[in-house]
Amino acid sequence: MVLLNALLVGSLAALASALPHAAVKRQISQLRHSYDFIIAGGGTTGLTVADRLTEAFPEKSVLLVEYGEIGYAAGIFDPPQTVWGESRASASSFNFQSLPNPDVKNKTALVFAGKVVGGSSAVNGMFFDRGSRFDYDAWTQAGSPEFDSSEDKWNWNGIFPYFKKSVTFTEPSADVAQKYGYTWNMSAFGGSTPIYSSLPPFLWADHPIARDTWKDMGIRVANECAGGDKEGLCWVPISQHPVTARRSHAGLGHYAAVNDTRPNYDLLVKHQVTRVLYPNGTTSGPPLVEIRSLDDDHLFNVTTKAEVIISAGALHTPAILQRSGIGPASFLSTAGIPVVLDLPGVGSNLQDHSGPGVSWNYTKPNNFSPLPSDMLNPIFAADAAAGFDETPARGPYTLAMSNSAIYISLPNITIDYMKIINRIYRMVDDGSAASYLPADYNSDPTLIAGYKHQLSIIADLLKNPKAPSIESPFATGTSVRAFLLHPLSRGTVRLNLENHLLQPILDYRTASNPVDFDIHLAHVKYLRRMIGTDTMQKYGTLEVGPGPSVQSDEALINYVKDNMTFSFMHPCCTAAMMPREKGGVVGPDLKVHGADGLMVVDMSIMPLLPSSHLSATAYAVGEKAADMIIKQWSKPFNGHELRATLRPA
Ligand SMILES: Cc1cc2nc3c(=O)[nH]c(=O)nc-3n(C[C@H](O)[C@H](O)[C@H](O)COP(=O)(O)OP(=O)(O)OC[C@H]3O[C@@H](n4cnc5c(N)ncnc54)[C@H](O)[C@@H]3O)c2cc1C
Ligand SMILES: *[C@@H]1O[C@H](CO)[C@@H](O)[C@H](O)[C@H]1NC(C)=O
Ligand SMILES: *[C@@H]1O[C@H](CO)[C@@H](O)[C@H](O)[C@H]1NC(C)=O
Ligand SMILES: *[C@@H]1O[C@H](CO)[C@@H](O)[C@H](O)[C@H]1NC(C)=O
Ligand SMILES: *[C@@H]1O[C@H](CO)[C@@H](O)[C@H](O)[C@H]1NC(C)=O
Ligand SMILES: *[C@@H]1O[C@H](CO)[C@@H](O)[C@H](O)[C@H]1NC(C)=O
Ligand SMILES: *[C@@H]1O[C@H](CO)[C@@H](O)[C@H](O)[C@H]1NC(C)=O
Ligand SMILES: *[C@@H]1O[C@H](CO)[C@@H](O)[C@H](O)[C@H]1NC(C)=O
Ligand SMILES: *[C@@H]1O[C@H](CO)[C@@H](O)[C@H](O)[C@H]1NC(C)=O
Repeated sequence: MVLLNALLVGSLAALASALPHAAVKRQISQLRHSYDFIIAGGGTTGLTVADRLTEAFPEKSVLLVEYGEIGYAAGIFDPPQTVWGESRASASSFNFQSLPNPDVKNKTALVFAGKVVGGSSAVNGMFFDRGSRFDYDAWTQAGSPEFDSSEDKWNWNGIFPYFKKSVTFTEPSADVAQKYGYTWNMSAFGGSTPIYSSLPPFLWADHPIARDTWKDMGIRVANECAGGDKEGLCWVPISQHPVTARRSHAGLGHYAAVNDTRPNYDLLVKHQVTRVLYPNGTTSGPPLVEIRSLDDDHLFNVTTKAEVIISAGALHTPAILQRSGIGPASFLSTAGIPVVLDLPGVGSNLQDHSGPGVSWNYTKPNNFSPLPSDMLNPIFAADAAAGFDETPARGPYTLAMSNSAIYISLPNITIDYMKIINRIYRMVDDGSAASYLPADYNSDPTLIAGYKHQLSIIADLLKNPKAPSIESPFATGTSVRAFLLHPLSRGTVRLNLENHLLQPILDYRTASNPVDFDIHLAHVKYLRRMIGTDTMQKYGTLEVGPGPSVQSDEALINYVKDNMTFSFMHPCCTAAMMPREKGGVVGPDLKVHGADGLMVVDMSIMPLLPSSHLSATAYAVGEKAADMIIKQWSKPFNGHELRATLRPA
């Protein structure tokens, strides 16, 4: 194992230094006349699919079109970070500011998304958890009964093998495991894909305070949370190499690691997929792909023989579809785009994790050492930087954002949980649920039907004592945040009417369904119980936020609004895998309803958010989608006739 790791370190370093000189394509003259597959978006999911297709089909060509550049993707806290917790602004990201949120004091959401080969996996917080089994079972319920007969199962049992395949998890050394009390269960892992995850050889000294506090609260300590059972106090791996502690991302693991042996894998950077075109109608695909050079604005079309796969992420995928005339007819006509296919779900159903925090201070002396404030000491900081370059890497820079968290179900959070659940069932039964939807949903019965179906599924999830409602991660410091894992509110992504090629407009509509406030309230009340625990009281802990004077529900909701983080950077679900009659955009085969030869494969396809950060799920979705595509196209290749026999019209 040590030898293998040493080899990996060597090749990883070589790849990283080679990256800026990659033989990627930069202009149209370098492309072929036609491809078998075109993938729009070289991010977490798109690169996974491109890798698998070029591996499985040496005779077929794949063009991956990426908006950003190839580049070295720094870890979230790589040196020379001096003050912990300040992520650097990055040219490798799209930065969005949402429309004002009327239910949260008209404040706006700040949302980032990767704009680089690797996509968001190259800029994210490297927290690498999977959802709970009930989250993926809920995806299947969202497609039931219409999709029940499909071979493609997206429930936990259907996706778990792809979670395993998608990552190489490396066990910590025995002394590191003993020092921090790490636990894990290898039966949740077993893959050998060069996307790495590991438990770091460093934790800040106040880390055990949070864990002991949570144990004081009676929270169950889980041995492993990646195997589908995810309620309790969890250790969470970081998406980084186990020896070098460098960020592991899709650009390294699914391009740089394989491209030298894949003459059929063309990566075109600095180009935008503007739209797809169906000159012969949407039942006669695959469509043409129109691509724009970001250098000279030149537009050109590329043809495909098999499939066009849109993987531009949950914010840009709906923009590509809308520019193509595939989306809500009413919006398309406002935008002056001829309607090619009326699919109201395109850019609808936007969800994200959000939430306020609880904070405290210590009034009795403590000797926690080291803490991030030690980074201000030049000797400590220099040693930390030196440690990061050792083999294996050691010290503070080997710890990304965080690597433990609690995930607690609503029944374990409040004895009043049925009040919240019943309020959800009531708004489904009496139809009032629809009144919380975006105004432009109301002309469309399919979106309303789909939303009511989703709310019933969420109510069932929230009732389940094994399905988490809150996540609260911790690494160091004097605050924790309360992620609302299953929001009921829905927003939209719509083209910018001034210029359709610019970033789309996000309407987050955070907490527009008032039940989200009920749940935030329960979460805050639960987390503030941390302050009174024996562990916290040993250090004379006082509550700072919400603060002792904030007690009534009304005052607490006001605090929630003041302290809200609108986006934990998990936008999703804007081309949902749901039936067309329930406002869905793709089927369980991830093909766009009614559009031949066109698929969506990224975080847009989830009907509902999982109880996790999204990158591990993005890789698993890419692996499973690739497997489905490979199965379909492994049969004798005969263009349209074959597709017609495989797919009912
Ligand atoms: C700042 C940040 C922090 C995060 N923290 C975490 C975390 O700690 N843990 C975690 O698990 N998840 C985290 N996430 C979320 C997770 O990384 C993403 O949800 C996931 O990687 C998304 O995968 P994707 O394939 O859907 O899209 P992406 O990986 O975003 O890929 C989309 C790609 O498409 C490209 N693109 C867009 N439009 C076009 C176009 N028109 N033509 C061509 N290319 C286009 C983009 O440049 C991008 O490369 C974070 C995300 C961000 C942004
Ligand atoms: C593969 O990528 C590497 C690094 O990204 C680059 O140096 C190399 O030239 C590429 N090879 C081919 C055949 O494109
Ligand atoms: C939010 O903005 C809208 C539109 O400008 C305005 O009507 C409303 O009063 C504002 N709400 C708050 C709470 O400021
Ligand atoms: C590891 O997970 C498997 C599968 O869930 C389970 O059967 C086994 O008991 C677990 N082992 C430990 C030590 O928890
Ligand atoms: C949640 O409650 C159930 C039933 O009381 C209990 O078995 C479980 O351990 C609790 N979970 C946590 C994380 O404490
Ligand atoms: C449309 O049909 C014409 C005539 O059959 C054919 O030549 C062309 O390739 C088709 N275009 C696409 C994108 O399918
Ligand atoms: C792309 O194809 C469409 C449909 O055939 C055509 O209208 C358009 O002019 C083409 N664009 C370019 C740049 O060739
Ligand atoms: C801790 O917080 C309390 C309550 O907000 C405040 O009164 C006190 O001054 C703070 N003490 C320290 C040491 O920061
Ligand atoms: C929430 O409150 C904490 C302190 O109580 C503060 O540090 C943080 O910045 C606040 N966050 C927001 C988004 O207001």
